[in-house]
Amino acid sequence: MTEERPLLEARQVFRGFFGNPVLKGVDIALLPGRVHALLGENGAGKSTLINLLSGALQPDGGSILVDGKPVERFSPAAARGAGIAVVQQELSLTASLSIAENIGLGAFPRRFGLIDYRALHRGLSDVCDMVGLTEPLDMPVADLALGRRQMVEIAKALFRRPRVLILDEPTSSLSAHEAGILARLIETLRDRGTALLYISHRLNEVQALCSHVTVLKDG
Ligand SMILES: Nc1ncnc2c1ncn2[C@@H]1O[C@H](COP(=O)(O)OP(=O)(O)OP(=O)(O)O)[C@@H](O)[C@H]1O
Ligand SMILES: [Mg+2]
Repeated sequence: MTEERPLLEARQVFRGFFGNPVLKGVDIALLPGRVHALLGENGAGKSTLINLLSGALQPDGGSILVDGKPVERFSPAAARGAGIAVVQQELSLTASLSIAENIGLGAFPRRFGLIDYRALHRGLSDVCDMVGLTEPLDMPVADLALGRRQMVEIAKALFRRPRVLILDEPTSSLSAHEAGILARLIETLRDRGTALLYISHRLNEVQALCSHVTVLKDG
């Protein structure tokens, strides 16, 4: 299902913090049906690049392109609207809310202006099956171990049916079993035409899953 147009692209992006340059003219292009790895040592700027690709940060220079078109003033809302979902390195769930509420937060399906609970439950059970979440959906996230929270985080991203899915070190808190489920899931999404960006320090995972690699070194 691979076609040759990038869904999301950074061209010659620059970004620094307080005068320290972190990214110095970085290019990356994410295509449908591809798993692209982003590698580099701690502090190389991987998460910073993801923040630019998902509208959380603005570049100091260069451009972000969606469907081949440069975007002005990219924002997290604009990125969501363009079908870009990120599983952050630091988990972003609300501990006091349930699994279902966390997954659906901000993306409840609506019908005639009302929350469509039937669609919500159908969508939730689909994504929970995909990531192997068998816990009751009304369980507070606070009661889950770190690896299970990470799977909720991944389910939350999938619930938005992203065209582009960015995973920032998703396996660091997963068991070998959970990491295996995630690997199969990534292959399924790839085969359906999703563009994936995969950050990991585990080179065996990268070799098994990724067909393209970008390495960041000194920006
Ligand atoms: N919001 C910020 N304010 C100031 N400095 C920042 C900020 N975000 C990142 N940095 C700095 O930018 C550099 C790159 O950080 P970044 O988090 O992008 O690296 P990384 O490649 O994701 O590293 P890791 O593998 O540890 O996750 C680091 O020196 C970091 O301290
Ligand atoms: Mg990082």
